[in-house]
Amino acid sequence: MTMTDSRVLTGDRPTGPLHLGHYFGTLRNRVELQQRGADLIVVVADYQVLTDRDVADRLAETVEGLVLDYLAAGLDPDRTTVFAHSAVPALNQLLLPFLSLVTVPELQRNPTVKDEIGHSRQSSVSGLMFTYPVHQAADILFCKGNLVPVGQDQLPHIEVTRTVARRFNERYGPVFPVPEGLLSEAPVLAGTDGRKMSKSRGNAIALAATPDETARLIKAATTDADRHITYDPEHRPGVSGLLHLAALCQGRSPHAVAEELGSAGAATLKRVVTEAVNEFLAPIRERRAAYAQDPGFVRSLLRAGNARANELADQTLREVRAAMGAAF
Ligand code: TRP
Repeated sequence: MTMTDSRVLTGDRPTGPLHLGHYFGTLRNRVELQQRGADLIVVVADYQVLTDRDVADRLAETVEGLVLDYLAAGLDPDRTTVFAHSAVPALNQLLLPFLSLVTVPELQRNPTVKDEIGHSRQSSVSGLMFTYPVHQAADILFCKGNLVPVGQDQLPHIEVTRTVARRFNERYGPVFPVPEGLLSEAPVLAGTDGRKMSKSRGNAIALAATPDETARLIKAATTDADRHITYDPEHRPGVSGLLHLAALCQGRSPHAVAEELGSAGAATLKRVVTEAVNEFLAPIRERRAAYAQDPGFVRSLLRAGNARANELADQTLREVRAAMGAAF
C-alpha cells in the first residue's frame, strides 16, 4: 500500500538517548511509512517534557541527540519534518479552544496520565500534567495529521485528539480530520534484566552506545544456571529477553537462536547476543557518527522543520479563527 495521502504525525518527549526498544517499537515503523510515501512530521515535545521535571535539564543537548538518533535510524533528512513544538506559537494557541472542548472529569480519567502521576515523585500534580493530552491534540491537529503511529500507552491521548476534532467540527464546522492511531506490531523488548527495556531502569541498549558499552551491559545481564538455552519468557525472562534481542537483530525467531545454542550456557548466549546487537547497530552507529560530525546539520534541519511547522500551524489557526468567527 502506498501512503501518499497520509500525513503521519508522531513524536517523542526529549528525555534521553533512544534505545533498541524505541528502534523496534517505533523508529523502524516510521522509516517504513516514509519509504511508502507518507509525509512524515515528527514533533519533539519539548514542552510536554516539563511534566517529567527531573529530565528537563540540558534540553538543547537532548534534543540534538534525539534528532541524531532519528537520522541514524534511517529517517530521510530530505523528506522528514522534525520540529520542536515550543517553536510554533500558532500550534500552542490551538490549546485554548481545544481546552474548551473537554471536561475536567474527562482529563482526570485519562489512564495514561493517572499512571504517570502514580510514577512521578512529585508531591503535587501540575495543571500541565492534566492538560498535556489536549496539547498533544494540538500537536496532531495543527498539521491535520490523519495517521498517528504510537505505542499502546498513547491510545488514550489519540482518543482525546479524536474527541477534540469531532467536537470542534460539530460546533464550528468541518476543519479537522479525525485521526487514526496506528499501533505497530511493536514487540515489547526486554532489557538486560528481563524487564521491559527502559532508560530509567538502566537496562537499555542505546543506539549510540559503543560496542564495548553494549558488551558490558549484556555481560551483566540477568540469566539463570540452566546451561540448556530455551526460549521460555514466562519461566526464564532473562534468557528469553536476550534471545529475543538477538532474534530481532538477526531477523529470525528466538526459538531458532535457542536451538542453535543448545547447551552452550549463558556466557556463550551473551557472546552471541552481543555480536548480533553490535553487528545490527554498526550501520546505524556509523550513520549517527557521520551526521554528528557536522553540528550545524541538526540545527538547520530543526530550523527548516520549525519553519514548515509554523506555516502549517498559521494556516490551521487562520481556519480555526474563521470557523469560530473570532474577532480576537
Ligand atoms: N506523548 C508522547 C510520548 O510520551 C510524545 C508525543 C507528544 C506525541 N506529542 C505527540 C506522540 C503527538 C504522538 C503524537 O511518547
